[in-house]
Amino acid sequence: MRLLIVDDDAGFRQSLALLLGESGYGVEAEGDPERALARALKEEFELILCDVKMPGMDGLGFLRRYRAENGNALIIMMSAYGDEDAALAAMREGAYDYLQKPFKPDEVILTVRKAEERERLRREVDALRSSLGIGAVGDLVVSQSRAMRDVVELAARVARHNTTVLITGESGTGKEVIARAIHRMSPRSERSFTGINCAAIPEQLLESELFGHTKGAFTGATSDHPGLFELANGGTLLLDEIADLPQALQAKLLRVLEEGEIRRLGAREAKKIDVRVLAATGRPMEQAVERGEFRSDLYYRLNVVRLHIPPLRERPEDIPELLTHFARQVAQRLGHPVSVTPAALVALTNHSWPGNVRELRNAVERAAVLSAGGLLDSKDFALANGGSNDPNGGANGVLDLKTQVEAVERAAIQRALQAANGNRRQAANLLGISLRTLFYKLRRLPAA
Ligand SMILES: Nc1ncnc2c1ncn2[C@@H]1O[C@H](COP(=O)(O)OP(=O)(O)OP(=O)(O)O)[C@@H](O)[C@H]1O
Ligand SMILES: [Mg+2]
Repeated sequence: MRLLIVDDDAGFRQSLALLLGESGYGVEAEGDPERALARALKEEFELILCDVKMPGMDGLGFLRRYRAENGNALIIMMSAYGDEDAALAAMREGAYDYLQKPFKPDEVILTVRKAEERERLRREVDALRSSLGIGAVGDLVVSQSRAMRDVVELAARVARHNTTVLITGESGTGKEVIARAIHRMSPRSERSFTGINCAAIPEQLLESELFGHTKGAFTGATSDHPGLFELANGGTLLLDEIADLPQALQAKLLRVLEEGEIRRLGAREAKKIDVRVLAATGRPMEQAVERGEFRSDLYYRLNVVRLHIPPLRERPEDIPELLTHFARQVAQRLGHPVSVTPAALVALTNHSWPGNVRELRNAVERAAVLSAGGLLDSKDFALANGGSNDPNGGANGVLDLKTQVEAVERAAIQRALQAANGNRRQAANLLGISLRTLFYKLRRLPAA
């Protein structure tokens, strides 16, 4: 593993470099923070040990600029007595850990080993994800919970084939997100993804939107008009709120799916088309079928594979990472970092979110815009059922990071155990940790 030490104290820098070098790490050291930053961005380091107090640029400034340029090495802050606040502030903004000077050799080696192991786990998770093609949608779909990982895995498996998929789930659970993920993991990913909401468009318009029309097909049809099926040719078409598709169009859609060809309204000739059809619904379809409002033959044709997205209240483990995801998005728009206090994290995780992920996203955006600083506390969210007010919450600021690290570890361990068919020794081997460490982690991460 390659390490970079950033510290203006030459004597300290050299002895630390010597110590870590003797422990088998590739160590580089820089005394000037600007030069260190340039090197950190140009070369591949897995870990950076950075002093908090330096002339020119301090440790927090280093961290911010490094992250702003997309540097992703782990950063350990080193603080002298009296600088703990600065070190903690750095942890809130994504430093991995901190060491208080003066530290014993054992202490720094232990901290570096821990960081190394975390890196290994992270890479293991990445490798497992990309072997399933899931890495490609990591930035699109947050899937920390078991339930969402199952959804994404199934999506990855069906993505390769051309089967229709019916995506179900309450409003705001992420049905469109999953449809886009299927598209992106499919061989059609370079082609277009098109969505249409079948409930939002009046029947006559919808018909020509979907299937197109020729000039003169009806009053007002002054020119030829290709439908979405033609425009989406080669790509993926999402039919959203499919339960609301009018009956006359249900018959027409069934024919298109069975025959793989399309005829514009008023046209004589049919055209071959190659479109991957995905359908989504927030309403249970079975009732509509039973009541005769939705054709059962079309229902079976669409329901070849069913992907159900559980409501957010059934998978609160996703909330911390969703928060990070949305905080990062809104931070980019506002131009300053946005994070959530541990107390707020607890309150948000306990909230029931009837509007699901969309409601959570809106809550983060609203809080970030209305709050003065970038640190959002429970009171910034104005949740109906309030939040517990942990007096230590804002001050120590480490829960958010810890929760995430544990979630990554948990995911890697679960994946390794699956791959090893539950054999713990083999799983430990896959993860590159000792059996004892695995047992320790299993005890500490009960959900693993
Ligand atoms: N797992 C997730 N990871 C990241 N963002 C998500 C996730 N699930 C949902 N979102 C976000 O939440 C919002 C709502 O998602 P989406 O539009 O996919 O929900 P939906 O189920 O289609 O809702 P509706 O039934 O109202 O159409 C979007 O902004 C989406 O980006
Ligand atoms: Mg939708």
